[in-house]
Amino acid sequence: MTRRVIFDTDPGQDDAIAILLALASPEEITVEAIVTVGGNVPVSLTAKNARKICELAGRPDIPVYAGCAGPMAARPLVTAEHVHGATGLNGPDLPEPQMPLQPQHGVDFLIDQLRAEKPGAITLCVLGPMTNIAMALVKAPDIGPRIREIVLMGGAYFEVGNITPTAEFNVYVDPSAAAIVLASGIPIVMMPLDVTHRVLTTPARLDAIRAVPTKAAQAAAAMLGFSEKFDLEKYGSDGAPLHDPCVTAYLLRPELFQGRHINVEIETASPLTLGMTVADYWGVTDRKPNALFMREVDAQGFYDLLTQRLARLT
Ligand code: BDR
Ligand code: CA
Repeated sequence: MTRRVIFDTDPGQDDAIAILLALASPEEITVEAIVTVGGNVPVSLTAKNARKICELAGRPDIPVYAGCAGPMAARPLVTAEHVHGATGLNGPDLPEPQMPLQPQHGVDFLIDQLRAEKPGAITLCVLGPMTNIAMALVKAPDIGPRIREIVLMGGAYFEVGNITPTAEFNVYVDPSAAAIVLASGIPIVMMPLDVTHRVLTTPARLDAIRAVPTKAAQAAAAMLGFSEKFDLEKYGSDGAPLHDPCVTAYLLRPELFQGRHINVEIETASPLTLGMTVADYWGVTDRKPNALFMREVDAQGFYDLLTQRLARLT
């Protein structure tokens, strides 16, 4: 049976590839809708980029909603054009989207949709700052128990941080939102930097994607070719990390990943370590486990899956 998902995202080249991987896998995943958030770039651009991706995959029927423009607490939006380019989706030359943006606010859509569904029907895949889902939980706490699971890219423990010395970008942009999500009691699977920094886009893996003659694979290769430049210089590794597609890959092949069910909390006050993920990986507190926190990944298995699936799109 396919898993029905809503993406909450800030595309972003890696967000785009996560969505393409889902759209290439209709036997396992049904994408019900996409909600966007301000993150890598402002929400007007993430809402446009999400529609470009749907059209690239031949799926202009998927409803796309714009959600929150910035974090829930009084704090300016932090963006990442230095990684993703001015549009957030630099690399491929994708046409302006023709499909409409849905008129409803993304947070209200999440609430209405989750209330309309049977409990456990919908999985949320959160690929950006967690503002939309946290706002929805504040506005309508009754939706929490209706969510089957939240699978999210965010946080770090062993890798500590990528936007500050101690914080991962998605958590850092809206630490209060991340704290609300982690305290919600909803089943959560987390893909932290500890996993995504092992899923490296090496030249051989990028060449394998480039060799796939579909429009989607060509666009994905162009996206990865653009966004890796910054990371290659930053980390000096053999390839750039690939973050958000780990979320989709987990839904398709959970056995590619291994982690521990542990307590994870977020620092929301300290100016020095704001947005830090405090993961009790070694079980040194008696705080209640609230997330399956991943650490290990079969990176080649991941890239084989991604490359094969991109060949299924046009
Ligand atoms: C996360 O931050 C964004 O730049 C990526 O899209 C990913 O969701 C990685 O820290
Ligand atoms: Ca993202």
